[in-house]
Parts: sequence; structure tokens; C-alpha cells
Amino acid sequence: MLASAELLEDGQAIRLAWRDGAEARFHAIWLRDNALDPETRSPANGQRLITLGDIPPETRIAKARLDDGALQVTFAPEGKAVSYPADWLAGHVYDRAGPGRLAEAELWDCSLDPETATGDFAEVMAGGAALRDWLAHVRRLGFAKLTGGPTESGALLRVVEAFGYVRETNYGRWFEVRTEVNPSNLAYTGLGLQAHTDNPYRDPVPTLQVLYCLENSAEGGESQVVDGFNAAERLRAEDPAGFDMLAGHCAQFDYCGSGDVSLQARRPMIETAPDGQLTAVRFNNRSTAPITDVPYEHMSAYYAAYRRLGQIVDDPAMAATFKLEPGESFIVDNTRVLHGRTGYAASGGSRWLQGCYADKDGLLSTLRVLEAA
Ligand code: FE2
Repeated sequence: MLASAELLEDGQAIRLAWRDGAEARFHAIWLRDNALDPETRSPANGQRLITLGDIPPETRIAKARLDDGALQVTFAPEGKAVSYPADWLAGHVYDRAGPGRLAEAELWDCSLDPETATGDFAEVMAGGAALRDWLAHVRRLGFAKLTGGPTESGALLRVVEAFGYVRETNYGRWFEVRTEVNPSNLAYTGLGLQAHTDNPYRDPVPTLQVLYCLENSAEGGESQVVDGFNAAERLRAEDPAGFDMLAGHCAQFDYCGSGDVSLQARRPMIETAPDGQLTAVRFNNRSTAPITDVPYEHMSAYYAAYRRLGQIVDDPAMAATFKLEPGESFIVDNTRVLHGRTGYAASGGSRWLQGCYADKDGLLSTLRVLEAA
């Protein structure tokens, strides 16, 4: 409930106080642009019906009063009256210091127990609260695991279909991760793979990856996941200038593993929002191309920072390690969480995973709808 409203700067802004003591200022032009009335926003789909050009630049608040806890405003020169519920205003405060809304990530290291971010395949596929809780792990940690799934080829598509859509690429709707004789990608060998994000040579990158285990009797071949945001924050804390090197210059990534493909992207290894919050990490030793967007005088410092980030990624204190059993799978936010594996023997036992890509927008949309239910 609102307690008071006071016009500021001749009605160009307003200061509101809530009964719990909170206060916030709003600009008249912001309130007018975000008016909730049916001439401004479609009641059917919530989309805005006007452009900013339809609002006079000299817009100010001529009158404001509280009515049953809501704010009633009359804008000049339009003479337009609009009502704003108190809880809507409280949910859209921008008058504050510090970062905005991006910070939903909870950073983690080797102390993350994957079992605490694990769902049962059948329960999660059934939807409802189990799906909601499992998707919430992905939003918070950039990682979640599933157990108890079927061991049939293509089962990984059901994981994606539970929340969104597969991102098809040159690797197909899904791809096989097992030892091949003439592999088009080092993933299809028994070599260990340093923790990495997938496909940094795409722009946009696939923002989710699912890896699903069908066979895993080979010695080794354990999965590792590393919180890339935590790695980047460690770098920022110990070497801010090194962090700025990686965030402030584009790296280059490419992939031409088979003759009909030539993928290239120029993006920083660490990407931040204008307020400095992390938005993405790209890290992949196999597909980093010659970097030419760093000036000569900065290249030594850039390489030192790149090396240090790799050391942090390789630090055993950073990685959560687990061995997938047949019918188990995990999903990572590929803009944040790096995945890798320990090497395995190509002879004796077998290791067969299937992988596919999907995108976070659909996952987060499904999660919000489930949370609102
Ligand atoms: Fe990978």
C-alpha cells in the first residue's frame, strides 16, 4: 500500500512512499510510457499500442493522488488520467543504486553436489512442480542433471521437448559423442577435453546443451562442469585489468571440421552488461582462432589473462565431477557453464553419449509460466 505521493521538479517526477517505509522516484515520461490503460496497452496481449512519438516530450504530472492504495495520475498536456497499482509500482522500481535484474545466478565450485540439482526423468517429463523445480536449477546454477531415463537413442529430445525446442545445427538435430575412426571433431575421440563452452564459433551460440548417456562402461570418461561465471569473477577479483582485457576485446573462434562448413564468430571470451554484470563466457581451446582484435601493445597482457582464466578453469577446486550412468543426462547453460570430460580408453568397455542444443529463452519462459501457475 502506498502512503504518500509528492510531485518533484514541477511534475516531471514523483516521489512515492510505501507503508513499509520504502521510497522511490519515477519520472513522468516513464510513467506515461508504461501506462496500463487499454489505449496504451492492448488488453488482449499486453503489447504497447503507441510509440514514444505519440507522447508529448513536455509530458509532466499535473495531478497525483492516492486512491484505495493505488496511484492516480493526470498527465499534462494530454489531460490523460491513469491508475497504477501499488504492487505494480513496487515491482518496477528503478530508483536505486547497484545492479538491476540480471543477478539470478548463484555461483558455485567443486563443492556443488550434482545430486542437489537432479531430477527424476519420469517426474520431470510429467511437468508441473517437478519440471518447475528442475528448470529452476538451470536458471540458478546453469546446470541440472536427470536420472532414471530410458536408454534408447533420441531420448534426449524428450528432455528438450519438456521445456522448449531443439536448435538444429550442421551436427544435426542431435549428435553422437563416441569414438570415431576419422573424427570430424575431437569430442568424438577418447581424449580428455578441457572444460569448455560449446560452439563459440556460432553467433548466436546455442544457449543450452543436453548431454545424454546411453552407454558408459569405459574406464574414465567422467563428466566435469565448471561455473564459468565463478571463474570469470575469480579473475576479476584477483586481476581486474586481466578481466578487462578479456571483456574488452573480441576473440575469434572458427570451425571448418568438415568440408561443407565454415563457421566463424568474433566475440569476447567474457561478456558483460553495461553495468559490469556477467552475461556470457566463451571458452574453448579447440576452436579459438588466431586473435587479431587485440592491439599489439596489449597482446602480451591479453595472453597472460587468457592463460590465467584457463588455470582457474583447470583448478580442481572449480569443477564438479560425476560419471553419467546409462539413462542419465545433464543440461548446461552454454553461455555460463563449461563442460568437459576426463579421457577414456577406446578399448575395453564403451562410452556413448548423445548431445543436442536448445535455447534458454524457451526454458525460462516455461519456468515463468509454471511459477505463475
Ligand atoms: Fe562440448
